[in-house]
Amino acid sequence: MEKEKIPDINLKEIKKQGKQEIMDEMTKNINENMEKIKHVIIIISGKGGVGKTTVSVNLAMNLASIGHRVGIMDVDITGPNVNKMLGIDSTKKPIVNTELGKFYPVNGPLNIKVMSMAFLLESSDSPVIWRGPMKMGAVRQFLGDVLWGDLDYLICDLPPGTSDETLDILQLIPEENVIIVSTPQEVALMDARKTIKMAQIMKRNVLGIIENMSGFKCPHCSKEIDLYPPGGAEKAAIDFNIPLLGKIPFDIDVGIQGDQGLPFIIKNIENKSAKSFKQIVDKIQMLLEK
Ligand SMILES: Nc1ncnc2c1ncn2[C@@H]1O[C@H](COP(=O)(O)OP(=O)(O)OP(=O)(O)O)[C@@H](O)[C@H]1O
Ligand SMILES: [Mg+2]
Repeated sequence: MEKEKIPDINLKEIKKQGKQEIMDEMTKNINENMEKIKHVIIIISGKGGVGKTTVSVNLAMNLASIGHRVGIMDVDITGPNVNKMLGIDSTKKPIVNTELGKFYPVNGPLNIKVMSMAFLLESSDSPVIWRGPMKMGAVRQFLGDVLWGDLDYLICDLPPGTSDETLDILQLIPEENVIIVSTPQEVALMDARKTIKMAQIMKRNVLGIIENMSGFKCPHCSKEIDLYPPGGAEKAAIDFNIPLLGKIPFDIDVGIQGDQGLPFIIKNIENKSAKSFKQIVDKIQMLLEK
């Protein structure tokens, strides 16, 4: 089998030189970019698979659908899913501005600007086998070397946990806003509480917690059941003194539409998940635009 190449967007060079000027240049680029973005929101969770990417793409779509200029940065370097959930072909490539030595994000639905490692891979099956410093280099390039332009919202979809990319992005953008996603399951909340604490220790603006996969309506008998014992998100909100932004039920269509690249907020505007999500977006806007 032919050995697949793993792109490294110049990180080898950076690592080899290890020069302070390169880091300073990166920081300068990041600061310049961030000055043009009104609100940066990072979506984190402790546990994997709780719905961060689903929340990120639906938040981006909802905000764009009401006229905001939106960007979405896929900070999940080794497991990028944003392009798939937004229905963007991963063979699309960011266009390079050779004069500036920077690149433009890919234009997604509703003009959402998207940057993801997925656009830099040869195929959607290509693995990214990078250790911490490499991933952090990529995050810095996404923040500083992508020509995001003027945006109302930049949504950053993070991988699970409190290491590498999460720590880096929290450190790099002090004025960012943080949303925590968790399922009601105790094991997910246990990890979510760690991320809330981390964001609070770093004095970031925590907008609140979203409980995803919160209850399920049986498609046969219409009875609503709890998939996990309820109450954990409320408790976390009280314990950490943060808002509970809302709850999104487990909805078979949400999963299917994620796979089809049709965010449910646009496709199924009248169902319960879309309505709950809309209320969450209203709250987020209220908190940020008050
Ligand atoms: N409310 C929901 N109802 C049904 N399925 C959902 C819901 N939210 C998310 N899913 C599905 O659950 C899976 C995990 O969601 P998602 O990829 O958004 O989680 P994640 O936290 O980003 O995962 P990772 O930690 O791997 O990045 C996906 O298949 C998604 O379509
Ligand atoms: Mg994800």
